[in-house]
Amino acid sequence: MSKKRKKNKSLSREIGLEIGAVCGKHFIKLEHLHYGYWTEDMDVEIFNLHIAQEKYVELLISHIPDGAKTILDVGCGMGQISRKLLDKGYKMDCVSPSAYLAECARKLLDDDVTIFECFYEQLETDKRYDVVLFSESFQYIPPKDAVAKSLSVLNPGGHMLICDIFQTEAEGRCGVSGGHRLKNFNAVMKDAEDALELVTDIDITENTAPTIDIECDLFRNVGLPVMGLVEKLMRSRHPWLTKLIMWKAQKKIDRMHKKYLGGDRTGENFKKYKSYRLFLYKKK
Ligand SMILES: C[S@@+](CC[C@H](N)C(=O)[O-])C[C@H]1O[C@@H](n2cnc3c(N)ncnc32)[C@H](O)[C@@H]1O
Repeated sequence: MSKKRKKNKSLSREIGLEIGAVCGKHFIKLEHLHYGYWTEDMDVEIFNLHIAQEKYVELLISHIPDGAKTILDVGCGMGQISRKLLDKGYKMDCVSPSAYLAECARKLLDDDVTIFECFYEQLETDKRYDVVLFSESFQYIPPKDAVAKSLSVLNPGGHMLICDIFQTEAEGRCGVSGGHRLKNFNAVMKDAEDALELVTDIDITENTAPTIDIECDLFRNVGLPVMGLVEKLMRSRHPWLTKLIMWKAQKKIDRMHKKYLGGDRTGENFKKYKSYRLFLYKKK
């Protein structure tokens, strides 16, 4: 992929996350940008998503090793996880390549929290941390770069805590993008085994998959009708302009239809093609 295409892809991903943040926050009071953790006793419905997200944060926090004091939250989103960790007494810094999300986090966090506004791969600091946390941000960073950078910013005996989606080797169309291939990730970690020791590996795919079904329902029942109504309104006011916009946007719209309504993007498929894992590695 050319440098320009790579840059455009990163930019549209960031903008996608920012749109998700704005909509989630205002319509359903979501504070986080992750899948959440569904337990058996929960009804899978949109208004429970914020509870699933809180449960996920509790799970993450329960895996922070005893004795850790300083944490670097890589890809801090809106800063809610860091806020929770500050309240628990940890000393936090964050990394955020998105100016919009960094600004949200800044409003929420204490003045002494440094938010490095850059991609993790480009982070330059003399600071060292007991834990580097990747909550659904690892998938955006080449694993080798993430490992090298983490080794350089971790204190001796420090930990990398990764909670994210990975791709399995199942054949076929998944419909859900994202995640490094687990096989490649394992190979990178094997190469790094002299420096990093695996402490915990938990598979939480079953507990994260329901969010995919919710997302598709939302698109079908809210996104599509709203888009249709906006188009109707625009056509009545500016028929020619609307025609032009629709013609320009048609490919994107078709892609969205295929993505959300093509039948591949389901919780069941997610379980087959993705593996959502919590990994804890200790720097030797
Ligand atoms: C799915 S959101 C997760 C946000 C938050 N950690 C959470 O769990 O709610 C992904 C986050 O990763 C960040 N991100 C994307 N690429 C990154 C990179 N190369 N380095 C650091 N952060 C990155 C995004 O800006 C966003 O904050």
